[in-house]
Amino acid sequence: MNTLQNRTAVVTGAAKGIGAGIAAHLATAGANVVVNYRSDEAAAARVVASITALGGQAIAVRADVSQAADVAELFRAARHAFGPVDILVNNAGVYSFAPLTAVSAGDFEQQVGTNVLGTLLTMQAFAGQDDLGPASIVNVSTAGTMSHPPYAGLYVATKSAVNALTVVAAKELAARGIRVNAIAAGVSDTDGTRAMGFIGSAQAQQAVAEIPLGRLGAPDDYGPVVTFLSSDAARWITGDIVLVSGGQR
Ligand SMILES: NC(=O)c1ccc[n+]([C@@H]2O[C@H](COP(=O)([O-])OP(=O)(O)OC[C@H]3O[C@@H](n4cnc5c(N)ncnc54)[C@H](OP(=O)(O)O)[C@@H]3O)[C@@H](O)[C@H]2O)c1
Repeated sequence: MNTLQNRTAVVTGAAKGIGAGIAAHLATAGANVVVNYRSDEAAAARVVASITALGGQAIAVRADVSQAADVAELFRAARHAFGPVDILVNNAGVYSFAPLTAVSAGDFEQQVGTNVLGTLLTMQAFAGQDDLGPASIVNVSTAGTMSHPPYAGLYVATKSAVNALTVVAAKELAARGIRVNAIAAGVSDTDGTRAMGFIGSAQAQQAVAEIPLGRLGAPDDYGPVVTFLSSDAARWITGDIVLVSGGQR
């Protein structure tokens, strides 16, 4: 309890799904939380309201993480509200599934823009703060970077790039006391997978059959691990990709 008291976290894409679950857990652990969203202001407001109803501190800030000016404004607003941002969770991500022969340049720009450039821009803004003490970045990757499922080539490629950025950034930022890790999330029941019609489909049934713990992940499954990685209890862990997937790999 209260392992993150007096800490400030930016969680990207926190209006929905896994990001909303992570934001709630960080707030319960005592962190001030900046709930970033791209388009759904009402959903972000609901996440903020649920945190403040429990006595936590949170604000919502709109920013498209693939746009450098938006990211600069996200960090300006966060610092204005709470001071230095010492926890960053790069959760904002987009995915679509198609055979490699059907992947378009538009798909590429969208997924590389949010998943890879977005991760890079937010880590740059975070590391650009010159008043940080011990600090933590957790990037949200996918177990697909280990299982390499068909029809996920572009998405898995972007998250493999996120894994690489995680390990390199961990080495570059270690001397400043900034740890950088990733979680490799498993197939989960989220707003995003519902919107794409995956939940309830034959593919979802197939996915469950391949998950040793026998169910899809839920948004609530990830916050405890991210809270741990962001806390002093994980002070000796950096550059790791932690599989949080019910055993899916
Ligand atoms: N669901 C899974 O099965 C699964 C498995 C492994 C890994 N993951 C990863 O987990 C993360 C969350 O997935 P999810 O399924 O929870 O997603 P989700 O339900 O679709 O929610 C995605 C959130 O990200 C925001 N977002 C998207 N693009 C953004 C951008 N450019 N800038 C800022 N915010 C942006 C959305 O904001 P708006 O709605 O406001 O636009 C939304 O709040 C992603 O990185 C995903 O790749 C998911």
